[in-house]
Amino acid sequence: MTTTATSGQAPPAATQGLPRPRTFDEVPGWFYRTDLILFDWFLSRQRDREHRGDLLEMGAYMGKSAVLMGGYLNAPEERFTVCDLFDDPEAAPDKANEREMERSYSTLTRRAFEANYLSFHDELPVIMQAPTSVVPDEVADGSCRFVHVDASHLYEHVHGDIAAARDVLAPEGLVVLDDYRSDHTPGVACATWQAVLESGLRPVCVSSHKFYGTWGEPRPWQDALHAELRARGKCWLQWQEVAGQRLLLVGARKADPPSLPVSRHAPPAAATAAASGKPAPRAAAARRLAADLLPPVMTRALRRARR
Ligand SMILES: C[S@@+](CC[C@H](N)C(=O)[O-])C[C@H]1O[C@@H](n2cnc3c(N)ncnc32)[C@H](O)[C@@H]1O
Repeated sequence: MTTTATSGQAPPAATQGLPRPRTFDEVPGWFYRTDLILFDWFLSRQRDREHRGDLLEMGAYMGKSAVLMGGYLNAPEERFTVCDLFDDPEAAPDKANEREMERSYSTLTRRAFEANYLSFHDELPVIMQAPTSVVPDEVADGSCRFVHVDASHLYEHVHGDIAAARDVLAPEGLVVLDDYRSDHTPGVACATWQAVLESGLRPVCVSSHKFYGTWGEPRPWQDALHAELRARGKCWLQWQEVAGQRLLLVGARKADPPSLPVSRHAPPAAATAAASGKPAPRAAAARRLAADLLPPVMTRALRRARR
């Protein structure tokens, strides 16, 4: 099992010939509007409140969430580490994980991750190409303020990843658990709620796809998030209690998106629009024209398809 940690700018040859995403939407991966808003809100609040610490992602795939997180390093001493097997499925710790890799990520390469990341940022994060079981040895206890757990979705691994997240997080740090309730990931659901019931993980909020929690005090996060999203509007919010723990349910797919990372390959108009979170002018004009000319039933169908 090998761990290769690198950071800094990749040599140009390493990413030559690979597709170069012109927008954040073009980076392959899974990231929905509600979670864009929540990542932006939590990471911006850490910045505004001067919470210092490193960022860690377990499971980076082609870099979509990493590209986003990489925009929230707030001080030169802060470090962003990603851990992924990339194109080394044989390094998977067991057969079930190896099968998971072959089934779901067979076209993944580390070079594609690097090319995507460098389209948006000047420097690569620290990359650990290894199973996430190396995290406790490689990442210092208490060093992180934000951890995204999105690697293997099998129970045994997620259980270990959550334990690792607890150790590397500072007391006020946040952990985000991907796919905590999807129909194909019962292992993540089990590991998530087990951590709540047995290891002191406290829910802050949940979206359809991700669970946001802390081993610190969740109430200040919850109250501020609720107030902010209510004021922004277009968000569905509901308080619930699960096993005596308060959590906020959030649906924000109709809310305005945050500013998205801007690709160095973006055409100038798209770059300006992406930075402002608005569609590029030509696309917006075309949409307005279509809305004026098409019958309402088609306009509604187009809007639904776009959503
Ligand atoms: C769902 S994808 C990550 C998606 C990414 N966070 C995003 O939002 O675009 C899961 C990733 O976990 C990696 N992975 C699976 N099992 C792993 C393990 N045991 N250790 C490290 N990485 C693993 C896969 O290579 C894949 O890239």
